[in-house]
Amino acid sequence: MKSKKLGAAVIALKEGLRHIKAYQSCSDTELLAICDTDSELLESRRAEFNVSTAVVDYRAILAMPEIQVVSVASPDYFHAEHAIAALQAGKHVLCEKPMTLNLADAEAIIRAVRETGRIFMTGHPTRFTPAFMLAYKMVRRGDIGELFMVESEYAHNYSHARGKDDWRVDPRRDPFIGGACHAVDLIRWIVGVDPVEAFAYGNHKCLTDWPVNDAYMSVFKFANGVIGKVMCSIGLVRPYTMRSVFYGTEGTIVCDNMSATMQVASTWNSNHEKHADFATIPVEVDNHNVEGEVAALVAAIRTGQPPQADVCEGAKTVAACVAAVESARSGKPVSIDSSFMQ
Ligand SMILES: NC(=O)c1ccc[n+]([C@@H]2O[C@H](COP(=O)([O-])OP(=O)(O)OC[C@H]3O[C@@H](n4cnc5c(N)ncnc54)[C@H](O)[C@@H]3O)[C@@H](O)[C@H]2O)c1
Repeated sequence: MKSKKLGAAVIALKEGLRHIKAYQSCSDTELLAICDTDSELLESRRAEFNVSTAVVDYRAILAMPEIQVVSVASPDYFHAEHAIAALQAGKHVLCEKPMTLNLADAEAIIRAVRETGRIFMTGHPTRFTPAFMLAYKMVRRGDIGELFMVESEYAHNYSHARGKDDWRVDPRRDPFIGGACHAVDLIRWIVGVDPVEAFAYGNHKCLTDWPVNDAYMSVFKFANGVIGKVMCSIGLVRPYTMRSVFYGTEGTIVCDNMSATMQVASTWNSNHEKHADFATIPVEVDNHNVEGEVAALVAAIRTGQPPQADVCEGAKTVAACVAAVESARSGKPVSIDSSFMQ
């Protein structure tokens, strides 16, 4: 027998637009309500997507018993407030990245998930990007031997992307936590074990009116000895992409989130004979696959199993980013403590 559709709602409707479309296109969900403090935007989304309930105060959504799932797509520093309130109202939550901007908020969400038993998923889109998903599969399959080094990046230009009311310029929103969390989460996911130490340098030469560093170079040491590098800049002049390289003892994968191909160099050919092989593999380009995120969330709710980017995964990425920022500030390597999430 087909299960009843899950009633869904979206809080904040800019990036939340992708969530609106994903819930409307998913056969297991029905979009019942939307919320934004910008009443003009709210009305235009309500009219365009024919949503029955549109409210400026998110608490009105949480009071609706027919809603089981809430997407939190508000500015980063509202994530904890909105997610915890939704969990405590008995809703499952899909929360945009970064899960939080600090560890205290991350711990508070973990506690709320444990107390309420609801499903919580952090929306880390790289885990649903076709090239990265294929890279993940190839690494797990052993196609490039044993992984020993990984790198990724957050290469953006925020000159015109400050967020409504300039919320990205708030010093609480360090670009390494708010932006480079994409790259840090990607390398954490690909490596598959926790990073234990971070070291980073930062500077501030491009967006000189930004209150914090606008560029970082960071390295991470993982528990299994793998080393990783993440570059972050929000002021560079270059097209946006997340060029990522995964180095194994028997091959290398070079891929990103914007290209229709990825490159794989391997010491094995397709007949399992040892010799150098270089392949260019076509991949679908889907950089913001919120449909994939919603499908994973629905599967987790239906099975009761946590999604792969669960609350602890979201928090561990926050912890790694916070350690890198602290290292750039102190000039010293910083241990990454994930023990509070066990
Ligand atoms: N997954 C991705 O690749 C990706 C891309 C962009 C943004 N994001 C994340 O999505 C979130 C939103 O970013 P954005 O680019 O949409 O920002 P934005 O500034 O473009 O839009 C924010 C929206 O939130 C609304 N809002 C603000 N406070 C609110 C509140 N208390 N209640 C309800 N609505 C409120 C604003 O009116 C605005 O419409 C952030 O967490 C950001 O990091 C993720």
